[in-house]
Amino acid sequence: MWEPSPPAEAAPPADVRIRRLRGDGDVRLILAFLPDLYESNFPGFQADPQFLAASRDRLRVAAADPRQAILVAEDRAGLCGFIWVSAEVDYRGLMRGEVRAIYVHPRMRRRGVGRRLMAHGEAFLGVLGCHAVTLMVTASNRAACGLYGALGYQVTRHQMEKPLNVHPE
Ligand SMILES: CC(C)(COP(=O)(O)OP(=O)(O)OC[C@H]1O[C@@H](n2cnc3c(N)ncnc32)[C@H](O)[C@@H]1OP(=O)(O)O)[C@@H](O)C(=O)NCCC(=O)NCCS
Repeated sequence: MWEPSPPAEAAPPADVRIRRLRGDGDVRLILAFLPDLYESNFPGFQADPQFLAASRDRLRVAAADPRQAILVAEDRAGLCGFIWVSAEVDYRGLMRGEVRAIYVHPRMRRRGVGRRLMAHGEAFLGVLGCHAVTLMVTASNRAACGLYGALGYQVTRHQMEKPLNVHPE
């Protein structure tokens, strides 16, 4: 099984190590990150028990799938972040990677952990033969847009939205 080894651009903090998710203990810790991850990106979203149970099942499936990887960042205080990436064959028959989720705990933000998680996720996708990596991001999420932009990601599609004036009868 593929194991993360530091890509060349990996940077400090040196006391943070990136490793693969191990078992339900890690899954529980990642689930504790999800309310902040989703509620900060989708205003009004509520990470209720059903959502968390479905997420737990998806994480377990992903952890056992050779085309997916969940990598965690860990320091002496415990887990401080994770990235979830997956690969699939695209419409041209080429392998394409996707960043499905990335999160860094507020106590460790702006210290290069997100950058390192992305580097390890991309390394995993590269080993699978992916020719590109895609992701979705909320346009108002300055930190995430800043991270992806700094790493060379470019906008290729826009999701557009317009509120409708619907009055309940
Ligand atoms: C987005 C997130 C993962 C970034 O993690 P991080 O560890 O703080 O990021 P890094 O320290 O590696 O930052 C790397 C680069 O990203 C950009 N960046 C990070 N945070 C930023 C911010 N708040 N504003 C602007 N740019 C930012 C910068 O270019 C930064 O490089 P620099 O520090 O040398 O200027 C983190 O803020 C987070 O977990 N947010 C909540 C969850 C989330 O929104 N996930 C993304 C969903 S699409």
